[in-house]
Amino acid sequence: MRPKLVVGNWKMNGSRANNATLLAGIVEGLGNGKANAAVCVPAPYLQQCADVLAGTTLAWGAQDVSLHASGAYTGDVAASMLVDFACRYVIVGHSERRAYHGETDHMVAQKALAALDAGLTPIVCVGETLAEREAEQTNVVVGKQLSAVLELLDGDAVERIVVAYEPVWAIGTGKTATPAMAQEVHAQLRSRLRERSGLAAEKVAILYGGSMKPDNAVELMQQADIDGGLIGGAALKAADFLAIINAA
Ligand code: PGA
Repeated sequence: MRPKLVVGNWKMNGSRANNATLLAGIVEGLGNGKANAAVCVPAPYLQQCADVLAGTTLAWGAQDVSLHASGAYTGDVAASMLVDFACRYVIVGHSERRAYHGETDHMVAQKALAALDAGLTPIVCVGETLAEREAEQTNVVVGKQLSAVLELLDGDAVERIVVAYEPVWAIGTGKTATPAMAQEVHAQLRSRLRERSGLAAEKVAILYGGSMKPDNAVELMQQADIDGGLIGGAALKAADFLAIINAA
């Protein structure tokens, strides 16, 4: 059995004051439990996470990483820098990065590789737009997105990634894929992992993201191939985030 994992994606939200309240609320709610959970925060707040969350069960990470190791890349953040702030995770290929920053499948794969090389766990996002779903291209699109990453990773590196299926039409819209719709795509992604490596198919957590909330989390996470969630909006309220962690 794969352990369930719940990751909050704060996106471009937060302030030192608000983060302090939110993180304290989550940590208090988790108590001494052994939750498998993390928050991915804006880079300027990684030090705050390191200060507040060290020694707690809540891990932290970033929302993007450079595909380069260092050098003249103004504004970018290297994987080694994320390690410097004791990050465990980094999201790569979120649809907002793909849409607003022109990130291609290949760039996303290079970012996943840079993260792994530094010892981070990349959370590789894949997902189709509404037009792609309506054109019945969902499996083709997410398959291509995942394959680009699998092609670049050697050997057992594939076993060390996390995949997040995030249908673009469900992100921040309040529309959620039904558990059956999500499960179908997750099963497809798992079989693509299996083509590469049986062990990877068993080990890799495939999270669902796209308006996962306390009231739909249980049903989604009961699906055989849904191993947790990547949570946007609901990760900004301690009570909601905790309720989703508890559902896991
Ligand atoms: P949402 O965002 O939960 O607000 O839909 C999920 C995500 O984009 O990671």
